[in-house]
Amino acid sequence: MAVSRMFQILIVTFLHYFSASVQAANPTYNVLSYGAKADGKSDCAKAFESAWAAACATSSPATIYVPRGTYILGNMFFDGSDCKNDAITMQIDGTLSAPFDYNVIGNSNHWLVFERATGVSILGGTLDGLGANLWACKDSGKDCPEGATSLAFLKSNKISINGLTSKNSQKFHIIIDGCHDAKLQNIKISAPEESPNTDGIHIARSSGVSVTNSRVATGDDCVSMSPGTSNVLVQNVACGPGHGISIGSLGWVLDEAGVENVTVKSCAFSGTQNGVRIKTWARPSNGFVNNVRYEDLTMVNVKNPIIIDQNYCPNDGNCPNQSSGVKISGVTYKNIHGTSATEVGVDLECSKTEPCTGITLEGVVLKHENEEANAVCENAVQNVDGVVKPLTCLPKK
Ligand SMILES: *[C@@H]1O[C@H](CO)[C@@H](O)[C@H](O)[C@H]1NC(C)=O
Ligand SMILES: *[C@@H]1O[C@H](CO)[C@@H](O)[C@H](O)[C@H]1NC(C)=O
Repeated sequence: MAVSRMFQILIVTFLHYFSASVQAANPTYNVLSYGAKADGKSDCAKAFESAWAAACATSSPATIYVPRGTYILGNMFFDGSDCKNDAITMQIDGTLSAPFDYNVIGNSNHWLVFERATGVSILGGTLDGLGANLWACKDSGKDCPEGATSLAFLKSNKISINGLTSKNSQKFHIIIDGCHDAKLQNIKISAPEESPNTDGIHIARSSGVSVTNSRVATGDDCVSMSPGTSNVLVQNVACGPGHGISIGSLGWVLDEAGVENVTVKSCAFSGTQNGVRIKTWARPSNGFVNNVRYEDLTMVNVKNPIIIDQNYCPNDGNCPNQSSGVKISGVTYKNIHGTSATEVGVDLECSKTEPCTGITLEGVVLKHENEEANAVCENAVQNVDGVVKPLTCLPKK
């Protein structure tokens, strides 16, 4: 009796969920129905545009579906300004590939753009920027296009990117610019260590951005943040090869928005040029960096595991050579372990005119060839038990 009653409940429960899931099934716009060909040859831009327009014309949650296969796309502009739908999921089981000729997208800033969109989710998929020929062109010293960022979200809100793979972008892989509330998770990014300007995820003028459970191996910063960025969480990200997780470059212009409330937690750096870095140009600016937490990080053979560089001067050429006006305060480095590839594990080179304040180092243990790595600093003060005093480290040579 009890058993059959239980069985009855199970059946009822099952039917309940079954019908609920049928009712909840979103209308699906399959790009193949709009003329896309997954043959790796045909230009599919028109089909993707039409599927986007159809999803945007409805107001209930919709899915744009991209089945397996390779789709060639030139520049794509997913315009959200007239979109009625604030719940579009682009589910990608295939690969979106840039055209073979890098010139087709190489002179535009971005390859695939979502602008003024709300509630867009990208689920799965691979983006292939086919950057190698453009990098070779740049390497040869010839006149080449600047290159396009593979995926850009501009002035958009409530964004989710989950399970996306991006490889061999011409320039940056992913940009989040002017956005609020963006969740990036399970992202895989790869490009060769020598590929120029292939930043993994770049966050600009945005707030409420998280990057979690992701892996970035590339030729420039794994994650970078530029002025006007706040409330960022980077957690559980593996970086390497690459140039580390960076705030900056900041302070190129006089009037600049600051960067605040950034947490980088439980990340691993392997063979990277930097671990966690803050970089500013040495010239006047009213920009600032405030409230940054670096916590539970592992460094393996990293050249500059912890670095603040307020005399940023890439390639030592044509730099302003003044004093940075960017005020850095409230930076905590906690529980950071591993190995430095150079003698200097901690390098805090702060501004003469705006010294770094509120720097806390706690449980930072970095080795270089089995010896404790050095800490070097300039114009930095720390808080220890409420007492402010100069950081105990070697003067800069
Ligand atoms: C700081 O950013 C986190 C996201 O990492 C957010 O949850 C928190 O509310 C922010 N704090 C403030 C004071 O805005
Ligand atoms: C930077 O400026 C200082 C003082 O103005 C000067 O002595 C130094 O040579 C300059 N360095 C470079 C690399 O221009």
